[in-house]
Amino acid sequence: MKLWLIGAYGIVSTTAMAGAKAIEREIVDRTGLLTTVDPFIEIESIIPLDFEFGGHEIRMLPNAFVACREHWELNKHFDSEILIAVKEDLEKISALKGTALNCGSGIRELGNIQTLEDGGLTLKEIVRNLMKDMKNFADKETVVINVASTEALPKLNKKFHGSIEGFEEMLDRDAKEFATASMLYAYSAIKLGLPYANFTPSVGSSIPALKELAKEKNVPHAGNDGKTGETLVKTTLAPMFAYRNLKVVGWMSYNILGDYDGKVLSARDNRETKIISKDKVLEKTLGYSPFSITEIAFFPSLVDNKTAFDFIHFKGFLGKLMKFYFIWDAIDAIVASPLILDIARLLLLAKKKGIGGVVKEMAFFFKSPMDCEIVNTHEQFQILKEWFVQLAKA
Ligand SMILES: NC(=O)c1ccc[n+]([C@@H]2O[C@H](COP(=O)([O-])OP(=O)(O)OC[C@H]3O[C@@H](n4cnc5c(N)ncnc54)[C@H](O)[C@@H]3O)[C@@H](O)[C@H]2O)c1
Repeated sequence: MKLWLIGAYGIVSTTAMAGAKAIEREIVDRTGLLTTVDPFIEIESIIPLDFEFGGHEIRMLPNAFVACREHWELNKHFDSEILIAVKEDLEKISALKGTALNCGSGIRELGNIQTLEDGGLTLKEIVRNLMKDMKNFADKETVVINVASTEALPKLNKKFHGSIEGFEEMLDRDAKEFATASMLYAYSAIKLGLPYANFTPSVGSSIPALKELAKEKNVPHAGNDGKTGETLVKTTLAPMFAYRNLKVVGWMSYNILGDYDGKVLSARDNRETKIISKDKVLEKTLGYSPFSITEIAFFPSLVDNKTAFDFIHFKGFLGKLMKFYFIWDAIDAIVASPLILDIARLLLLAKKKGIGGVVKEMAFFFKSPMDCEIVNTHEQFQILKEWFVQLAKA
């Protein structure tokens, strides 16, 4: 299958590319991939684990190998033999120039960006270019996933974001202050009939106008914001307190991270989008809102290592307060990138089986699942399994 990645030279994207090619070359096993174990392994006969990559970027580098090596030099996030083995494959992948429209002040931290002002193009021209690039690459087995930096929260507007006509009027009127890059990418993909996933917390396809478009075109889409680290642990552990009727009175999550993602998130407007995405899960899991602190801070020397410190204060029998602490210390790209390959395969399966609109059953992969109030990981996994088994049989 083909996979078009927005933010193609980022660490999640290039690690997904390197991992997929290393698996194809049989130099690594498939650990970390959900679609290679029972019952999901059934997908193999319908959509083999065989990827061709392309994408959009705003940091213009010669190819995906150069981007991957840049991340690798900072992080050493996998064995150097793997990087050498996939060199030729990644050198063949060159991203095309995307748009950085209204991505927030954090994007300037990335440096070396040629597309911040979009060269005076109108919204319609930007969309036309994005669609042309995707169309040239795509075939019937293509999925688009947004793994670009988190953009700032946009000014949401009922008229321009509430319906397809409104959205298209925004494009016609070149009302740039209401459009963000992630919306334009999502619109372009869905309009072309390509399944789309939003792995970032950016709005992407989650505005009503694009949900309507996806329904109308019968295109499956899913998001938002990959659930990979602290939130994954949080939404797996929090149900335990609920199951045992233990009352969580306070939950502090302090996340420190480096790399480009950390740099972008050190800008207040970009960080806000992420904190909202992380914060909602406790209330949804527990059914009430305990006192909570959620912080994300840039810590340069950690590079792509993300460390989360969580402190939970909870009340038990006879009103006794007790404490629980955990530390999650993971390599972000290593936990995130296999999900990209899984999400791509499952969205393509959904398309092949005639499913359109938000695929709520894929909530398992996301921190802020679209149109789904269930954030409990155990329940989400059950729902995903049942959905998959039915779909594979259909
Ligand atoms: N790593 C994880 O565990 C994880 C989990 C959930 C969500 N995410 C999200 O995934 C995204 C990617 O994470 P990453 O660690 O790879 O970040 P990264 O900074 O390494 O990569 C992001 C890439 O996107 C590019 N980019 C920025 N704006 C763009 C635009 N408008 N169009 C095209 N390209 C653009 C950047 O130049 C960069 O190459 C982030 O939004 C992050 O919040 C990551």
